[in-house]
Amino acid sequence: MHTIQELTSVFPSSGNLKPEFAKPHPINQREYLVNGELRRWDGPTQEVISPVRLATDSGLSPAVLGYYPKLSADEALTALQAASRAFDSGRGHWPTLPVEARIERLVDFTYRMKARREEIIRLLMWEIGKSLPDSTKEFDRTLAYIEDTIEALKDLDRLSSRFVIDSGIIGQIRRAPLGAILCMGPYNYPLNETYTTLIPALLMGNTVVFKPPKFGVLLHQPLLEAFRDAFPAGVVNTIYGEGSVIVGPLMASGLVDGLAFIGTSRVADLVKQQHPKPHHLRTVLGLDAKNPAIVLPDADLDLAVRECLLGALSFNGQRCTALKILFVHRSIADEFLNRFSLAVENLKPGMPWDANVGITPLPETRKTEYLSALVEDARQHGAQVVNASGGACVESLFFPAVVYPVSAQMRLYSEEQFGPLVPVVPFDNLDEPLNYIIESNFGQQVSLFGRDPQTLAGLIDPLVNQVSRVNINSQCQRGPDSFPFTGRKDSAEGTLSITDALRVFSIRTLVAAKDDQINKDIITDIVHHNRSNFLNTHFIL
Ligand code: G3H
Repeated sequence: MHTIQELTSVFPSSGNLKPEFAKPHPINQREYLVNGELRRWDGPTQEVISPVRLATDSGLSPAVLGYYPKLSADEALTALQAASRAFDSGRGHWPTLPVEARIERLVDFTYRMKARREEIIRLLMWEIGKSLPDSTKEFDRTLAYIEDTIEALKDLDRLSSRFVIDSGIIGQIRRAPLGAILCMGPYNYPLNETYTTLIPALLMGNTVVFKPPKFGVLLHQPLLEAFRDAFPAGVVNTIYGEGSVIVGPLMASGLVDGLAFIGTSRVADLVKQQHPKPHHLRTVLGLDAKNPAIVLPDADLDLAVRECLLGALSFNGQRCTALKILFVHRSIADEFLNRFSLAVENLKPGMPWDANVGITPLPETRKTEYLSALVEDARQHGAQVVNASGGACVESLFFPAVVYPVSAQMRLYSEEQFGPLVPVVPFDNLDEPLNYIIESNFGQQVSLFGRDPQTLAGLIDPLVNQVSRVNINSQCQRGPDSFPFTGRKDSAEGTLSITDALRVFSIRTLVAAKDDQINKDIITDIVHHNRSNFLNTHFIL
């Protein structure tokens, strides 16, 4: 059992940290990137407190990592106007640049980004409490995503570098950018999920304003100069501050052509509604989810426990794809709970850089109080915490609680906990989890655990029409990034993957002409003399 004393003892004192994991030098950020220059902000700032507490003689004390600007709506609007000007209704330098030249800028950016790898990984650990292997993976996966996106764009461009002749019409069909895109990522993947929209948006010729999430802000600071130096003025702009203050005026200005937002559906709705021209705005949204696992009576329990543990508790359950409710057949519920609770108890609480750490501090203020309230609510409605240390909490560290038996009147049944709580619901009839999924507001993914192909097939066929990915004997997850990532109902709008993202930030457009001699001569002349970046047959090697 993990005692309060043990949980307290895992917080370090600054003196006992290895130099490579020591608290980063404070980043007192005053600058933001607008129109190719780092402007200084002398107004209010937001202090950044790490989820990691430091042990001192007087107890655990918050570690301050620095601060960032809390811009006003005026500065945010200036950033958006810069993006809009750089797009210049499609006439700007960036949107008319040949694909190859845009790729060159991105390649240049990745060199600059690689140079800041260690610094950013350390900031990920200190700002959001993500473990060293997961922080490393987040950085490396993002770089790989950029490289793969570049290759995917080359493929797309090669396919478009030809004419199509049909029914007496000659056409060249390509994808063209949308305009100025507002990109907002989530705090659990502040680098990766921001870049999985920002990078394809840029590559397709859009200009961008990006706002880092509420946690995981300072880690973007080391890349501001890289953005400034790699891209033409106005193509990338950054804004900081409270979403409720700065995002509304941006949307109300009507200058946002595309919105890429990963967060809650509640906020997404508020933001979208503020745009004066709803059909002008294109959106790609990654939203709430409450992915269930269904553990069937014939499931391989060791495998189910292993995958449910990963699915429910990697990064403390703070993944949109996390398994957030487990439906376990009543005939195996006791055995599953015994093994699952044991596995949870074996998770090691600690700091992000500790070897084999399984549970780390949570970045959200008052999150542990929220989680405790969910547990208390479940208790009042007749559930128990099954694992011995479940719900033990010191400051920002909350030991995962397995809660059983969870039923419909409990908040944990329908609320997305986004943290280390694992509600387990026993079921007798498969209609129970199926109806849960049908009635749910969410529709992202599901995990099925079982061995009988016939039973699994009978679940797969209806479930693919309810969610967007059915995982067999595997946890829910986004990757690999070549797979489509989307959701139904309140879980998403649009699809992301390496190739899909290039599509969502662009629109098909074509040049067409009747197949007669005058048009053939004109087209041949334009292509031959390389007069147009759109109408040409240049093939990227
Ligand atoms: O938070 C949602 C992420 O897209 C999940 O990605 O499944 O790779 O952790 P992941």
